[in-house]
Amino acid sequence: MIPFVDLKAQYAAIRTEVNEAIARVLESCEFTLGSEVAAFEQEFAAYCSARQGIGVNTGTSALHLALLAAGVGPGDEVITVPFTFVATVSAICYTGATPVFVDVDPQSYTMDPGGIEAVMTRRTRAIIPVHLYGQPADMDPISAIARKHGVVVIEDAAQAHGADYKGRRTGSLGDMACFSFYPGKNLGAYGEGGMVVTDDPGYARTIRMLRDWGAERKYHHVLKGYNYRLEALQGAVLREKLRHLDKWTEARRTAAAHYDRLLAGSGVQTPTPMCYARHVYHIYAIRTQHRAAWQATLQAQGIHTGIHYPTPVHLLPAFADLGYAAGRFPEAERAANEVLSLPMYPELTYEQCAEVSQSIRGLSASAGPAQHAPVRDRTQAQFAGTA
Ligand SMILES: Cc1ncc(COP(=O)(O)O)c(C=O)c1O
Repeated sequence: MIPFVDLKAQYAAIRTEVNEAIARVLESCEFTLGSEVAAFEQEFAAYCSARQGIGVNTGTSALHLALLAAGVGPGDEVITVPFTFVATVSAICYTGATPVFVDVDPQSYTMDPGGIEAVMTRRTRAIIPVHLYGQPADMDPISAIARKHGVVVIEDAAQAHGADYKGRRTGSLGDMACFSFYPGKNLGAYGEGGMVVTDDPGYARTIRMLRDWGAERKYHHVLKGYNYRLEALQGAVLREKLRHLDKWTEARRTAAAHYDRLLAGSGVQTPTPMCYARHVYHIYAIRTQHRAAWQATLQAQGIHTGIHYPTPVHLLPAFADLGYAAGRFPEAERAANEVLSLPMYPELTYEQCAEVSQSIRGLSASAGPAQHAPVRDRTQAQFAGTA
């Protein structure tokens, strides 16, 4: 059996230090925020080359508070992509603003900067590019458009801890960046967690208040806030895990390189590392027009896969009120129909990659030549500075 992710293997490797960190919190009886969270905020912000980190209870809360700190509210519009996890879009709705979509680039699956200006209006207040699967969006053109129109850029970096764009770290590429520490993420808590990182002390101060009932100091509530505090147990566990993150990222990149090599020439479309990106492979997604059959066969062989995501957000029933019809975002829709995420985690071995690849080569050979609709060919080489 090859699982899709293997959190037990990771825990086995770090059991002693994690158990000690948990014991430290239990002994202190300091359960929410406190010194462990404060230390983790500093350590993770530094890891992202950002000055400030504000720990919150989920990645969704991080997005919600970043938007509020940017002044986004009812009547405003926020531009993002439909090919993402629903949380990106829900967080916009929490503020009362309207999500406005642009399609994704078919190779990177991230925001196509060429689509942004056509949907900007005088109500546009922010842009949220999503670093999907662990690959940063093409941030320079996005930031240039944002600057020109005076709107804020909030990175959705929930899947991209430690990824680089032209040698710069995710988390330092926009006005604010939002991370998730959901257990299966590249840096995952033992429960829920999230963080906003930013260089801007004003945003940081507002978010610090909003996550803790809008209080400037105890019982002095200057904003209508939330209970979005990060638990100390998660802060302590995440501090221990952060020390391993670079090693785990390298292991993911090695596993991705194994898949790339083992699937080369099979007719299966593997992920495209963009020239500007150092991909951290939260997800390794291939594309196939026979996805349902392939997934069922792999499952029967004990190989667990995932689909991220089967329906683009504009076609989900919950967002029907936005009024987007099928066909409006063809690249997102095509990707949603074809992507298949292979097992990916730092402990994945070469033998496991070989077993998965061999199964997929067999499926591909019996399916014939057309595994996916043709995509625009923008063959990319690794960016020289970050390869
Ligand atoms: C792209 C993206 N944005 C936002 C989130 C929300 O994070 P969380 O589950 O911690 O609320 C996730 C993770 O689930 C995600 O993958």
